[in-house]
Order: sequence, then C-alpha cells, then structure tokens
Amino acid sequence: MQPIDEIRVRLDGDVQKLESRVAGKSAAQAPALASGPEEEGPTPARQFEDLKVRYLGKKGEISGLLRAMGTLPAEERPGFGKLVNELRDRAEALFAALQERIQEMEIAGSLAGSKLDPTLPGYRVPLGSLHPMSQVREEIIAFFQGLGFELAVAPEVDNDWYNFEALNIPPDHPSRDMHDTFYVDDKVVLRTHTSNVQVHYMETHPDQPIRIIAPGFVYRVDNDATHSPMFQQVECLVVDKDISFANLKGTLFLWARHMFGAETTMRFRPSYFPFTEPSAEMDVSCYFCKGTGTVPTGTGTVPAGTGCRVCKQTGWIEIGGCGSVDPNVFGKVGWDAEKYTGFAFGFGIDRITMLKYGIPDISYLTRNDNRFLRQF
Ligand code: DAH
Repeated sequence: MQPIDEIRVRLDGDVQKLESRVAGKSAAQAPALASGPEEEGPTPARQFEDLKVRYLGKKGEISGLLRAMGTLPAEERPGFGKLVNELRDRAEALFAALQERIQEMEIAGSLAGSKLDPTLPGYRVPLGSLHPMSQVREEIIAFFQGLGFELAVAPEVDNDWYNFEALNIPPDHPSRDMHDTFYVDDKVVLRTHTSNVQVHYMETHPDQPIRIIAPGFVYRVDNDATHSPMFQQVECLVVDKDISFANLKGTLFLWARHMFGAETTMRFRPSYFPFTEPSAEMDVSCYFCKGTGTVPTGTGTVPAGTGCRVCKQTGWIEIGGCGSVDPNVFGKVGWDAEKYTGFAFGFGIDRITMLKYGIPDISYLTRNDNRFLRQF
C-alpha cells in the first residue's frame, strides 16, 4: 500500500474509534470523561488533541508526506501533492466534526453532574421603566435639543454669587425671602433654582450667542402636598442680538403644544423676578377640561359638569416664570447689555409631571411605591 493510503486508513480507524468512545458514553458517565483520566485513561479531549497533532501537527504524518515529496522525481510531485492535499482536507473535516461531538458531550456531562435542570422554565426579569419625572425631563430636553439648544449643567452646591448676587439679588433684597434657602455657610448655598446656570454659562462663554436648556435638582426649606425640599427645575437661556419677548412667546408656544396637546393656548401674567425685565408667569390652558374649568362629558367615573381638579376650575395651569434678561445681569457677568438681549425661563419639572398625569401629592414622586410607578 502507498504510504498515503496507509495513513488514510489509519486516520479513519483512529477517528472512528474515538468517535465511538464519545458516542458510547451516557451523559451520566460523561463528567468523569470530560474532567480527568481516572480508570479510563486519557480523556477524549486529551486523546483528540494527541490524534490531531499526530496527523496534522507540524511534525505530524501529513506534513511528513509533504516533506518527503522533495525526494520524488519532478514529474511525480504534482500528482503526489494533490493526493496529500486531499488527505489533509479529509483529516481537517474529520477532526472538526469530532471536536464538535466532544464539546457536546462535555456540556451534557457538566449538566449531568450539577443540580441545574435546563428544562425548567426561566424566571421573568421584570423590566423597569423611566420614572415619570425622568420621562418629562427627557421629553423637555429632547424638544429643545430639536430646536438646536445645548444641554447645560451647574453645581447644586454653589456660591451666593451664582445663586443670588449675579442674578441681580443683592444680600438684603426682599426677594431672597421667597427662596427659603438652605445655607451651607455664609457664602455657600444649596441652589434654590436652576437660574445659577445662566451665570455660570455666561461667564464661561463670553460674548457669543447662547441657547441652553438646563435641567437639575434645586433645594428649598419647604414641605407640603405640593412642595418638596428637593425638586427639579428646567432652565432655559437664549442670548443673541435682537432677542425679544416675542421670541420667548413663540418658543414657549411651540413647547406648550408639544407637551400638552395641539389645542393648547397660553397666557402671560405680569410678574416680578430680579433677573428678568419684564417678567411673567406663563399659564397654559388646562388640557384636562380644555380650559373650561369643568369636566367635559363622557370622562368615565367623573360626571359631566364637575369642577376640574387639575386646574382648580380656573381653566389655566401655571407653568412657571420667564422674562427678558435684565440688563443688570449682563452687567454682572461682564457682558455688553447694549449689544445683547435675551430671554429665560425656569419651570418646575415636578409640577409639570403632576399636572401632566394628574398626580395630587408630590410625595408620590419620591415614595418609590411600585404600584404607583408601574402606571408610567
Ligand atoms: N428661578 C425662578 C424660580 O425658581 C424661576 C424663573 C423665573 C427662572 C424667571 C427664569 C426666569 O429663568 O426668567 O422661581
């Protein structure tokens, strides 16, 4: 027999022998096979490696044939080479199939040795969802980013300068009383509003147009059904040449309709904030009673004509403060108030969330009660 044929016959026999050893092992016997020699001699995995090296290794029999080719007369080499290549392909295919078998057996073996029952149904992992306030915050951010606004942040523990002074609120200004501030020391406070972002941003981005949206936590000494000592606001600041109150109204109108529905209307009531002039409170028409103050017909358990709970029968919902940037604020941060104008607003995210979903008590938002949270 030619050496090639001889090797092929031996290879087939060896592979077959190992294959039947693997096939003959029940899953119960397999762990010992897979993990150690014990009475059976080398494991099938070990035997497999040895066999593969013997035939396909660098110094293996098939490589030996290729090396031997050099001793043949030139005209015999191509035919011989072709046969050797065929043999090598055959060996590779046989070993690949055998390796798969051995791996299957090892898996079956490790399962048989453990308490794991792969036929049991799996556990359902409950999927969480975003907190309603986070949903509202993300929705607001996404809307303003869509208009080209940049996301900005500012510290929650901040100097008096950023929270008050630079916003045109000097130390003895009566409007400080509106804020019920948590003082860390004489000069450091827990910010009472997100308006500090205005000062930080203008200081670090001098003399250039600004369009920012800045959500964040704020703190006040306040605690009842509609106030929490820690709550979230979202601040907006736009500064450029020729920015007017009309730009503020247009922007907020787009946002209100996006947030509360296409039929939403809005109104501005004159107000006072030290850092805006003129200042206003923005209200939107109540989405629940469509601005009528009474619940329309056909709303489930609530009879038609009942006074609307969401807007307290006024037909309007207060959203928050806004206005044109006070020139004094530009002066404080070293900007030229002759060159730039701007608008700003600051709204409570907790408040918007409560209104949007008709939540009667702010503490629901922080109780972490799953029966409540699952509804969103
Ligand atoms: N910072 C104010 C507050 O918390 C809200 C506010 C009013 C923010 C007017 C503004 C603004 O940016 O222009 O009560």
